[in-house]
Amino acid sequence: MSEHALRKQLEFYRDLGFEELFVRPSEAEQASGLEDSTADAAPGAEVPVQRAPAPAPPLDEPPAAAPPASEASSQHLSPLQVIQEDIGDCTRCRLHTGRKTIVFGSGNPNAKLVFIGEGPGADEDAQGLPFVGRAGQLLTRMIDGTCERIGLPIRRPDVYICNVVKCRPPENRAPELDEMEICGQFLFRQVKAIQPKAICVLGGTAAKALLRPGVGITKLRGNWTEWGGIRVMPTYHPSYLLRGYNPEGKRQAFEDLKEVFTYVYK
Ligand code: URA
Ligand code: SF4
Repeated sequence: MSEHALRKQLEFYRDLGFEELFVRPSEAEQASGLEDSTADAAPGAEVPVQRAPAPAPPLDEPPAAAPPASEASSQHLSPLQVIQEDIGDCTRCRLHTGRKTIVFGSGNPNAKLVFIGEGPGADEDAQGLPFVGRAGQLLTRMIDGTCERIGLPIRRPDVYICNVVKCRPPENRAPELDEMEICGQFLFRQVKAIQPKAICVLGGTAAKALLRPGVGITKLRGNWTEWGGIRVMPTYHPSYLLRGYNPEGKRQAFEDLKEVFTYVYK
């Protein structure tokens, strides 16, 4: 490739927001084990969902008959907060043993678009927020870069982001089928509470959770499908795109995101 063509190619990827074209940890990083700890603080707009304390009843009113416990605890809570409340300090599957924090989700609770990843990694487990480590930083650039490129004023805080399982699997292994089934009930409720116009599933695990289990992400990506009456676009997981020199994968992921954002917001 000529220098001119190479420069154009690099500019193209930079414009898409893909600054990290070929990520190989430096020797220094490898030696110090820092490879996967480059997460910065989450973008300012994203904080774990806080629940407002329930207001105390006025003192001069006799207390009304106590509502059933489920009703009492769902008062003043948004639909997503009710789900979070139901998850509680969950021990429903074995993943609870290795987690520090349950990573519920982040972003706009009324988003028209929901991104679904696999499960929290070390950075997410530490911060309690999805996609804040290296893969998360690439996801941010993919979202912001795509929208910028197609002239949309949409940025990461405008969408909603969550994972199939809410607790970090040990050694970053893929969640197992039973874990996905148990935790998936919360994912499905989350999506139904948000009622987005479309869903973008990131990678094979999320695709398996929502779509036909037997088909790999390479086959699925780029083609609209459907879950519960909502359009679903499968694409590659940002971790996969970080895993080596893969310009074709990045180009395809950009095409997929362009399709999704155009459908949802244009
Ligand atoms: N990978 C995921 O699938 N989810 C995260 O939240 C982070 C990395
Ligand atoms: Fe509960 Fe989901 Fe965590 Fe399993 S992964 S313990 S089901 S919150």
